[in-house]
Amino acid sequence: MNETIVVTGGSSGIGYSLIKMLLSKGYRVINIDLKPSGIENITEFLGDISQYQFLKNAIKSIESDGYYVYGLVNNAGISQRSDFLYNLKEDDINKVIQVNLLGTIYLTSLILPLMLKNGKGSIVNVASVIGKVGAYNNEVYAASKSSLIGFTKSLAITYATKGIRANVILPGYVETPLIEKAAKSSPDESAFYKELASRHAMQRIARPEEIARVIEFLLSDDSSFITGSEIPVDGGYLAR
Ligand SMILES: NC(=O)c1ccc[n+]([C@@H]2O[C@H](COP(=O)([O-])OP(=O)(O)OC[C@H]3O[C@@H](n4cnc5c(N)ncnc54)[C@H](O)[C@@H]3O)[C@@H](O)[C@H]2O)c1
Repeated sequence: MNETIVVTGGSSGIGYSLIKMLLSKGYRVINIDLKPSGIENITEFLGDISQYQFLKNAIKSIESDGYYVYGLVNNAGISQRSDFLYNLKEDDINKVIQVNLLGTIYLTSLILPLMLKNGKGSIVNVASVIGKVGAYNNEVYAASKSSLIGFTKSLAITYATKGIRANVILPGYVETPLIEKAAKSSPDESAFYKELASRHAMQRIARPEEIARVIEFLLSDDSSFITGSEIPVDGGYLAR
């Protein structure tokens, strides 16, 4: 199998775990991230996904190198600064929307022509349970993630008959540097983790590979009749 999967944010957390998994399944992988992953045998483009021209150049190079781009995982994301909405600066607000939402839209728009040329493809967008039910003090992040749900469903409807599927996953909390950073800035780290765990029916947060496994399934032909779905991977977070 020489299908190529483009992953954003593959240098840490969920994306890192996903790339390892994809390599073990025989896919070729391209990682787009701000920093290198340190993973061997993949191609990397280092830069900011909210910069349209950077993405345009990356896709041009991917196309001219003749990759068979089959999958796209829009995974890179940042969390909102932990403060009340009225205290956030214009830059704080813009950054979250630019990376989480616009970065995803930009890259998808640039990769779609390659997928359409192949007549087969799978797009997986990484949202969050917070995009579905909101969370305290998390308005901008929630807005960026809930927008991904509408974006994904529209992609699915538009391209279903052209061989391209699109799904969005809603992870609960996951043990990654994104959460570690939030934990470190909280007054009591262990109370922070305990409270996060308690939001899930399973009373724990996820390991990155538990999310990566579902993404890999959605990329593969095992999910050939699944498109336009929003799939919680959340230890029962949304069931409560
Ligand atoms: N960790 C969680 O609890 C959790 C829960 C639900 C959803 N998510 C979502 O899962 C995705 C992955 O999160 P994670 O926890 O693995 O985060 P992480 O911080 O561990 O990794 C994110 C990666 O994205 C990269 N990145 C950030 N901004 C970028 C940009 N502008 N351009 C290119 N790369 C950029 C970072 O360098 C990093 O390698 C995010 O979209 C996040 O919102 C995470």
